[in-house]
Amino acid sequence: MNYQQTLAKLTRILSDQYSEAELILKAEMAMKIKKIKEQRNAVILGHNYMEPALFHTVPDFTGDSLGLSRKAAETDKDVIVFCGVEFMAETAKILSPEKTVLCPSQKAGCSLAESITAEDIRQLKKQFPGVPVVTYINSYADVKAETDICCTSGNAKEVVESLDSEAVIFLPDEYLAGNVAKETGKHIIFPSKGKKINDNNLDVQMIGWHGKCEVHDQFTVEDIENVRASHPDVFVLAHPECKPEVVNASDFSGSTTEIIKYIKNNNLQKYLLLTECAMGDNIQAENPNREMLRMCAVRCPYMNQIQLKDTYNALKLNQYEITIPEDIRLRAYKSVERMLQIG
Ligand code: 13P
Ligand code: SF4
Repeated sequence: MNYQQTLAKLTRILSDQYSEAELILKAEMAMKIKKIKEQRNAVILGHNYMEPALFHTVPDFTGDSLGLSRKAAETDKDVIVFCGVEFMAETAKILSPEKTVLCPSQKAGCSLAESITAEDIRQLKKQFPGVPVVTYINSYADVKAETDICCTSGNAKEVVESLDSEAVIFLPDEYLAGNVAKETGKHIIFPSKGKKINDNNLDVQMIGWHGKCEVHDQFTVEDIENVRASHPDVFVLAHPECKPEVVNASDFSGSTTEIIKYIKNNNLQKYLLLTECAMGDNIQAENPNREMLRMCAVRCPYMNQIQLKDTYNALKLNQYEITIPEDIRLRAYKSVERMLQIG
């Protein structure tokens, strides 16, 4: 896209949010990013939650955690700029250690990734010896290093079913674990830190952890009921980081990319989106004639840190470079690579 095409696109999708002068500045910034990206032989990966001006202009690839992990593993560029949160950029570095991997903000954390430490996993492994550990990709490299296999929201069920074990430790998202337990017919418990499990819990097949996504935690069954009361024909799509009862009350649940595809492929005319709101803006821009309902402005404060200016600065100032000690990276690599092998 050249400057005129970029400005035309931004005007089409964002003229109700920004003035003409602001849209011109954004289009100019997108052009500056494109130029410096070529000079540095870089690829830009953009998660589906990136704000619309960035999402629709600069990424070479957009997608969910799983899709972008695959792109990070395949690229032949020297530099990967990950417009997403830090654990995603870390995953790219785990897969492509010889490349420079940049995360454009130092504030792009994640409440799930911060909910568990490597030491927590070591303790769980002592408590449940021999039980395989599945860790959601929303975790840091040292946690992945203690893990047998990673999963994303797009493949969690397949990953659990791929294991040759009835019992599984599934970390750290309490709700994703609950949703996967239901899908796989497993009985789940959440052991308290440092406490022994009673004998009567020995039939436990899934051991979870109390991590939560602070964004998806906000959606309730009542929200769905209220919307259905005034819009009986609405189709409800929920991310699997929502509470199991919320997923249960929805019509479809899947990763961010699966949600986007479902809306497009099924020609949904009126839908309620139970996930981060910037993605709603991005879907709306591609499907302007459909009616999107959502709970107002539920925005991920971490994803929201990354704007066009930060992406430009990342390439110009080579910031913020992801580094992972090689011994940790090698162990984390095994858990990510094992997941990618599942297809
Ligand atoms: P996806 O893997 O579905 O893109 O989700 C990532 C995430 O952080 C959702 O909150
Ligand atoms: Fe983490 Fe939730 Fe933000 Fe996704 S939406 S990055 S899980 S805090």
